[in-house]
Amino acid sequence: MAPSAAAERRTAGRRRKLVIAMDGPAGVGKSTVGRVVAKALGYRFINTGEMYRALTWRALEEGVDLGDQRALARLARQVRWSFKTTADRVTVRTFVDGRNVAKQIQGERVGKNSSKVASAPGVRRHLRALQRRLGRDGGIVMEGRDITTNVFPDADFKIFLDASADERARRRTRQLRAQGKKADFRSIRDAIAARDRQDSQRKINPLRQAADAVVIDSSDMSLNEVAECILKRISQARQER
Ligand code: DC
Repeated sequence: MAPSAAAERRTAGRRRKLVIAMDGPAGVGKSTVGRVVAKALGYRFINTGEMYRALTWRALEEGVDLGDQRALARLARQVRWSFKTTADRVTVRTFVDGRNVAKQIQGERVGKNSSKVASAPGVRRHLRALQRRLGRDGGIVMEGRDITTNVFPDADFKIFLDASADERARRRTRQLRAQGKKADFRSIRDAIAARDRQDSQRKINPLRQAADAVVIDSSDMSLNEVAECILKRISQARQER
């Protein structure tokens, strides 16, 4: 017997490659979780914070005044952006003028200055267009601050990943110490709280929970448990569609 139209639609819905959007505050583990989820689904993963950081790095190199939002937008348009999947076949990395800037963008100076760059409307418009192009064909997990609300408001699945500032600072402190680096819990927590304020009080595309996002508080969960939970929810949502 031929399958009914409804059954066919359900099967097509399950096969189609989805756009999975994820937002949340700094240091909550979005990249770790996003990569695990993408890998399990055979999708690609991109951390859009890298794009803002890459532009910040470039602006600092060129001596662009970070208070000049028009100059920052011009630089965003001038840069030749490219994106390449790394050897893990999951993670998509940002290249600036053909250069892999993964190392350069990890520095403290770039991190601190990136919120200025991310508050320039022309920069956000340009990067949003690039992000939409990357997700056009689906099969992607994209994380950032405004992916569920602004870049892909119609994403197939939306996640808001949260954890208390204390817990995020504890994780970061542990991580740095495990790498043999010095880490002071209080100053890390203060820096996280400051980033939260910058991200959520920004005039343009601030960090906020989309009404239809699945909110997961990971304070008492391991990141693997969070990824498991998301995969289960995605699979349930697909069955219901
Ligand atoms: O996630 P991150 O710390 O690497 O992000 C770097 C900066 O970019 C930070 O200031 C937040 C900002 N950002 C943003 O405004 N929108 C995004 N979609 C991703 C990051």
